[in-house]
Amino acid sequence: MLESGLEGRVCLVTGAGNGIGRATAELLAGEGAQLALCDNQEEALASVEVADALKITADLSTRPEVERVLAATRERFGRLDVLIHCAGIYRVTQLPEVSDAEWELVMDVNLRSSFLLSQGAVELMREHGDGRIVLFGSFAARTGGLRASAPYAASKAGVAGLTKHVAQYAGPLGVRVNCLHPGFTVTPMTSILGEQARAEAVERAPLRRHCGPEEQARMAVVLASDLAAFVHGVTLDVNGGMYMA
Ligand SMILES: NC(=O)c1ccc[n+]([C@@H]2O[C@H](COP(=O)([O-])OP(=O)(O)OC[C@H]3O[C@@H](n4cnc5c(N)ncnc54)[C@H](O)[C@@H]3O)[C@@H](O)[C@H]2O)c1
Repeated sequence: MLESGLEGRVCLVTGAGNGIGRATAELLAGEGAQLALCDNQEEALASVEVADALKITADLSTRPEVERVLAATRERFGRLDVLIHCAGIYRVTQLPEVSDAEWELVMDVNLRSSFLLSQGAVELMREHGDGRIVLFGSFAARTGGLRASAPYAASKAGVAGLTKHVAQYAGPLGVRVNCLHPGFTVTPMTSILGEQARAEAVERAPLRRHCGPEEQARMAVVLASDLAAFVHGVTLDVNGGMYMA
C-alpha cells in the first residue's frame, strides 16, 4: 500500500472555494490532514464541507493579507507542513486591449501571491526542517495558452521560474518545492471559454478529453506527499499530452 504520509500534516490550500483548490482540500481531508483553507470568495469557502478546517477569507495578492493568512494558520495549528497554492485568475483579453490595470491585477494575483506565500511558508517550514510547496503554473506558461491573455501566460511562466529559485534556496532547509502546469480543466475558471475553445482543447490533447479538477488535485497532493519525496524543482505537465516537454 502506498502511504501519502499526510495524516495530521498542517496543509494550507488556497483557492479552496472552487475548482482545483476545492478538490485538493477534499482529497487532503480524506488523507487525514489538518486544513487551513483560503479564498477571497467568502461564500464559496463557507460551502466547502470539510470538518474542522480553518477557513480564512483573504485577497492573496498583497503582503499584509498573505501575512495574515500565514499567521492565522500558525496560531491555530502551531506549524505549517504543506502549501498548495491554487488561487489564481484567468483572462482572455487580446494583446492590444490589455490595460496596465489588467496586467498588474493578473501579475499580482497569480505571481506576486506565489512569491509572497512561498517566502512566508519557507520561513515557517524551516523552523522544523520539513515542508512541501506546490505552486500552480499553467499550460499557458509552455505555449502561450488556449485563448490566455499576455499577463496570464507571463504570470504563469513567472511561477515556473519562481519555483526553481525557491527550490534551490529551500531544498537545503528540508523544503520541497514543485509546480503543476494544468492543461484545460473543467472548473469555474474555464467557464468563460466558449464551446469552440473547449472543443479545440479536446482536439489538441492526444487523450481526446478534458479533465476534471480532481485529476489535477490528485497530482498536487502526490507532489506534496511522501510519494514524491525526491521530486524537487519540477514543473509537472498534467494536460493529456496537449504539450509534451
Ligand atoms: N482550470 C484550468 O483549465 C487551468 C489551467 C491551467 C492552470 N490553471 C491554474 O490552476 C489554478 C486553479 O484553477 P481553477 O481552475 O481551480 O480556478 P477557479 O477559478 O475554479 O478557482 C480559483 C479560486 O481562486 C480564488 N481566488 C482568485 N483570486 C484570489 C485572490 N486574489 N485571493 C484569494 N483567492 C483568490 C477564486 O475565488 C477561486 O475560488 C489557478 O492557478 C489556475 O490559473 C487552471
